[in-house]
Amino acid sequence: MSEMTGFTDSRDGDFCPIIHVADVNVERDTPPCAITIFGATGDLTNRKLIPAFYDLAVQKLLPDEFVVVGYGRRPQDETQFREGLAAGVKEFARLDWDETVWKWLAERIFYQQGAYDQAGSFATLDARLNELEQQFKTRGNRLYYIATPPGEFAPIIENVGALRQNDRAFGRGPANAPARGPRGWWRLIIEKPFGSDLKSAHDLNELLGRYFNETEVFRIDHYLGKETVQNILALRFANAIMEPIWNNRYIDHVQIVVAEKVGVGRRGGYYETSGALRDMVVNHMFQLLTMVAMEAPVSLTANAIRDEKVKVLRALRMFGSPDEVLDNTRRGQYDGYKEEESVAPDSHVETYVALKVHVDNWRWFGVPFYLRHGKALPQRSTEIVIRWKDTPNVLFNQGGERVKSNMLIFRIQPDESFAFRVNAKVPGSGNEIHDVRMDFAYADGLHGEPPEAYERLLQDALLGDGTLFTRRDEVEVAWSIVDSIFDAWKDAPAPHPYEKESWGPAESDELIGRDKRRWHVPHDNEDVAHE
Ligand code: BG6
Repeated sequence: MSEMTGFTDSRDGDFCPIIHVADVNVERDTPPCAITIFGATGDLTNRKLIPAFYDLAVQKLLPDEFVVVGYGRRPQDETQFREGLAAGVKEFARLDWDETVWKWLAERIFYQQGAYDQAGSFATLDARLNELEQQFKTRGNRLYYIATPPGEFAPIIENVGALRQNDRAFGRGPANAPARGPRGWWRLIIEKPFGSDLKSAHDLNELLGRYFNETEVFRIDHYLGKETVQNILALRFANAIMEPIWNNRYIDHVQIVVAEKVGVGRRGGYYETSGALRDMVVNHMFQLLTMVAMEAPVSLTANAIRDEKVKVLRALRMFGSPDEVLDNTRRGQYDGYKEEESVAPDSHVETYVALKVHVDNWRWFGVPFYLRHGKALPQRSTEIVIRWKDTPNVLFNQGGERVKSNMLIFRIQPDESFAFRVNAKVPGSGNEIHDVRMDFAYADGLHGEPPEAYERLLQDALLGDGTLFTRRDEVEVAWSIVDSIFDAWKDAPAPHPYEKESWGPAESDELIGRDKRRWHVPHDNEDVAHE
C-alpha cells in the first residue's frame, strides 16, 4: 500500500502536493498460475478481466508461466474467443494497444466449454488444466474466478471443491494415477453479489468452508481496488495531523455519495432482484464507510485491517423498528425504470437510496453518516465528504454569514483525487475570508494514472494477499443490517419517483434537511470552494 509521509504547499501560492511515497511501484513477483474464468463469455471477462490481465502484461507484471482458460456453457471457437477478447482489450484496457503484448497473452488464452452443474464437465476441465499446467509450467497453482450470475455459484463451488478434494488426496493416491505436475496452491475469486440476504450469504460461506480455507477465498468488492479508497488509510494513518481531529469532537458529519448517470440499461433482470441497496450499499458503500470510520489497524496485514473494518460494521446502530427504518431511509425510482428491458411494469424496486446511519462507538458517537446512491442522476461521481464543525464565528463572520466549515473530499470517480477546503484571507486591508482548496490528483502527481481496480485485485489474488477482499464475517454483518431495512421496506409504499438526471426525490432532501444539513453535490471540474 502506498504510504504518504508529507504534504506541503509550494512557494507561488498555488497549493501543490509534495508527497514522498514509501513504496510506490514496488515490484512484486507474481507467481506462476493457471486461471480458470467461469462465465468467460460474459461482459465482465470482456470489459474488465482480460483488459486487466493485458494491462498487467504491458507492465510486465505477469510471469511467462501463466495461462487463462475461459470456461462457459456456449460452444465457442477458440480463435473467435480470442478475437472477441482482443476487441475488448482495445476498447476497455487502460493502456495502449501493443500487438506484441497481446500476442504473448493470446497464446496463453484457451476456451473450454462445459456445464456448471456436471461433474463430468469439471473432470474434462481438470484434464485440460493438467495438460496446460505441464505445457506452461504453472506448478499446479490454480486460481478459479467465478464471474457467472449468482445462481451458478453453488454448483461451481461444489464441483471445484470436489476437484480440490481429489487434488488434496492425490499425494496419497494410487500409484497408477495419471502423471501430473507438482501440487500448488488453489484459490477462488467470487464476484458479487455475495448472497442476497444474510441467510443466502451464510449458506454460501458454509459451502465454501466445506472445501476451502478462508485464506483461499477472495470475495471481490472492486471498490477496494480503487487507489483513492486505499489512500483513505494512508491519509488517515500516515499523517500526524489527521488522527487528533478525526472524531466526534471535531467532525460534524460524513457523507458518502455514489452517483451514476446511467440507468440500469440491459441489466434490468438482475436489478429487479437486487435494487440499489443490495447492488451498491451493502458492499461498496459499506466498505467506503468502514475505511473512513475504522480504528488504526495494528499492521497492514489482511486480517488486521479486516478486524478493524468488521468492528465498524458491528458498531453500526441497528434500527429498532420498521418505523425507525422508514424514518432514516428514503427510496426512489427514476421515471421510465418500469419501461426498461426485463423490468416488471409494477416494479417497486428502488434505483435510488438515501440512508442516515450511526456508528455507535467512542470515536463516532453522535456523528451521522449520510449515504446516498442512485442511477440516472446528473453525473457519474463518487465522493466521500468529511465535514468538520463550524468555528465560533465571532471573528470572521461576513456580515452575519457563517465562515464555511472545513471539508475533506475524497473523490473516487470520475477521477481519483482528494481536496481540503480551508478558509484564507482575501488580500487587502479588510478581513474578508474566502474558502480555498488544497488538492491532490493522481493524474498530476506520483505515478500518474492509478491502475484499474481489477489490475490490483487480480494481482493481489495471485499473490495470495486478501487485504482488499472481504472476509466472511464482514459480509455477514453487512447483510444483517441490510436485512432489517428490507424487512421494513416490504410493506412500505412504492419508492418515490424522480426525474432522470435529477438528484433524486425531494423526500431524500428532507432526510438530511431536517438536520439542517444539505446533500453534497459533486462538481465536475469546478472548485469545491463554491459548495
Ligand atoms: C457494480 C454494480 O458493482 O458497480 C453496478 O453492480 C454499478 O450497478 C457499478 O454500476 C459501479 O462501479 P463503478 O466502478 O463504475 O463505480
